[in-house]
Amino acid sequence: MPETFFRNLFTTHPEFRERFARADMPLQYAAFLDALQFIASNYDQRAVLERTLRDLGARHARYGLRQEHLAIFGACLLDTMAHFAGQSWTLSVDLAWRTAFERIAEVMLAGAAEASAA
Ligand code: HEM
Repeated sequence: MPETFFRNLFTTHPEFRERFARADMPLQYAAFLDALQFIASNYDQRAVLERTLRDLGARHARYGLRQEHLAIFGACLLDTMAHFAGQSWTLSVDLAWRTAFERIAEVMLAGAAEASAA
């Protein structure tokens, strides 16, 4: 899944290639998937999730994380998940993920802003 996500991201938004030029991509795939799995399995543990996403956002401050990057990531991630889910990707699943990703982005951005201000 992460391989497909990054392939789609780099094809539709080649400007992201440069940001990941120094990344060890197999490691990046694993880290990205781990983060998504952590988010999904702790979705009801608001305090844990909030702290983890803030820290993740804070670490992304040095990558120049911005709201528009997350919007692109989110759209591409949803497309990729919809592709793998096939027919089980219903309108309500789509809406639930969209809402969830907006919240994820909000908390990551707050963490990035805090780190930049510190
Ligand atoms: C839900 C959204 C995202 C998740 C879950 C995520 C997750 C991760 C994780 C787990 C890492 C490994 C390092 C660490 O834990 O700090 C990482 C690295 C990185 N992320 Fe993200 N990320 C997201 C969005 C973004 C966006 C929007 C950008 C664009 C600026 C970005 C750029 C990077 C870069 C450049 C690295 C470092 C790669 C390297 O050189 O090793 N990420 N991300």
